Amino acid sequence: MKELKIERVPTTPFDGQKPGTSGLRKKVKIFQSPGYTENFVQATLTGALGDKVKGSTLVVGGDGRYFLRDSIQIIARIAAANGVSKLFIGQGGILSTPAVSCIIRKYKTTGGIICTASHNPGGPTEDFGIKYNIENGGPAPENVTSAIYKVTQTINEYYYCSNLDVDLDNLGEQSFKVDGHDFSIYIIDSVQDYLELMKEIFDFEALKSVVRPGGLKILINCLNGVTGPYAKRIFEVELGAPPSSVVNCVPLNDFGGHHPDPNLTYAKDLVDAMAKGEHGFGAAFDGDGDRNMILGQEAFFVTPNDSLAVLANNLECIPYFKRTGVKGFARSMPTAGALDRVARAKHQKCFETPTGWKFFGNLMDAGWISLCGEESFGTGSDHIREKDGIWAALAWLSVIKYTNKSVRLILMDHWRQYGRNFFTRYDYENCETEPANTMMNKLQELVDDPSTVGKSFTSGSKTYTVKIADNFRYCDPVDGSISENQGIRIIFTDDSRIIYRLSGTGSSGATIRVYIEGYENDSTTFGKDSQVISGDNLKTV
Ligand code: G6P
Ligand code: ZN
Repeated sequence: MKELKIERVPTTPFDGQKPGTSGLRKKVKIFQSPGYTENFVQATLTGALGDKVKGSTLVVGGDGRYFLRDSIQIIARIAAANGVSKLFIGQGGILSTPAVSCIIRKYKTTGGIICTASHNPGGPTEDFGIKYNIENGGPAPENVTSAIYKVTQTINEYYYCSNLDVDLDNLGEQSFKVDGHDFSIYIIDSVQDYLELMKEIFDFEALKSVVRPGGLKILINCLNGVTGPYAKRIFEVELGAPPSSVVNCVPLNDFGGHHPDPNLTYAKDLVDAMAKGEHGFGAAFDGDGDRNMILGQEAFFVTPNDSLAVLANNLECIPYFKRTGVKGFARSMPTAGALDRVARAKHQKCFETPTGWKFFGNLMDAGWISLCGEESFGTGSDHIREKDGIWAALAWLSVIKYTNKSVRLILMDHWRQYGRNFFTRYDYENCETEPANTMMNKLQELVDDPSTVGKSFTSGSKTYTVKIADNFRYCDPVDGSISENQGIRIIFTDDSRIIYRLSGTGSSGATIRVYIEGYENDSTTFGKDSQVISGDNLKTV
């Protein structure tokens, strides 16, 4: 057994190591600066675990992006030197974000470290990220990330075992003695535990009958991200979909130069392929596998808002929910209210949280929600504490099997029953920070002005009257914690809304997001494009 020595390495703080919505995200070059990653990993262990770091167990893995392997070596050396007892690391460093959440819960580890910048581009000149997840398998809540940030501001040394070299590629255990204590690393199959969980949730026999050769043709595009090995194994090997049903399925450290974000812009390949009409179901996932986009034949686009509502409307077709019962729903504030309509019809509670998956964790732990989602292409359930792209695709295939309808027909029937929440989002990326803040301040003044409520705006035959103007504030119903300033909301009397918020996931500059939503129950509008419908709203205000 190899003996390792603990070294205490003096260091000084780096500015700006404040974890955002999903951990710390910066350019790779910044993470490569001497001491930068080391400082942040040490601060993560100290801030998140304090004394509990001794004897703790952690899951470590990431989405295959550039700097992943180096970062895992650093994490292992710092973990060993801090008295962590066990690390579970995905083979080759590969673990999707949902898989990390699954493994933390399955093996009851103290937490996990995910090396990803999610849907941001990868490669030597692009983004890297490090995120800590707690023992429920979910992203660290605000109090933990603030504790981490605090340590980064005063750190003056980190603990390190420089003669530890992890063999990331061979499955099995590697054991060490670190100044007398035992330290083990388990290299685990990246897919196995996650696959077992999916088999418990879904009826794989039923799904096989959907995607078998000669059945519904599916096209799954992994955008060269982490889901490749998961999707190959699940859709092709386990469910028997024909080879070539899963494409771009080798994780590349720069995602092939693309932006691994499953939306109509960045997953254009999938849109174009689906537009040919040969496939009846298409899905794409982001770099770390938690986001999803669902398409029907001829590239019929299912918005994440509608996807969530459709799943909520059909949960009984998934064995997991038959077993656990449906406990309630939640969506983030900017997410359209299609889910609320289903919740009302099904007499389920529906919570509205700030943007960020971490806000769902408390509600799930309290047993108050089964299903949740966000407009930002996140859909998931309480099977883990992260959103889950492959889960969403399997859930949709289950609905297709159950209803025996095409994706388009499922949506049309859904809108006929509930009406349609037209939704569109505009993103203004890479803005200068200061003017972006000024704009938000001006909007704050607008919503603070008492005369805003009650103002009416007319366009064509429609008049919109402001019902609520505020900056969204969330009081967590489980622990009473308050999150202020979660987005400017202008809500009209017919529940149409305009929301403004600054993105929390960019790595430089500011990104302004504008979300527009309007509800229609006139079925002649259902086939229309959201941008056309919302364009009218935009001109109005
Ligand atoms: C990540 C989080 C999501 C969140 C999204 C918001 O993907 O995991 O929960 O919705 O970021 O991103 P934004 O850029 O709008 O802050
Ligand atoms: Zn992601």
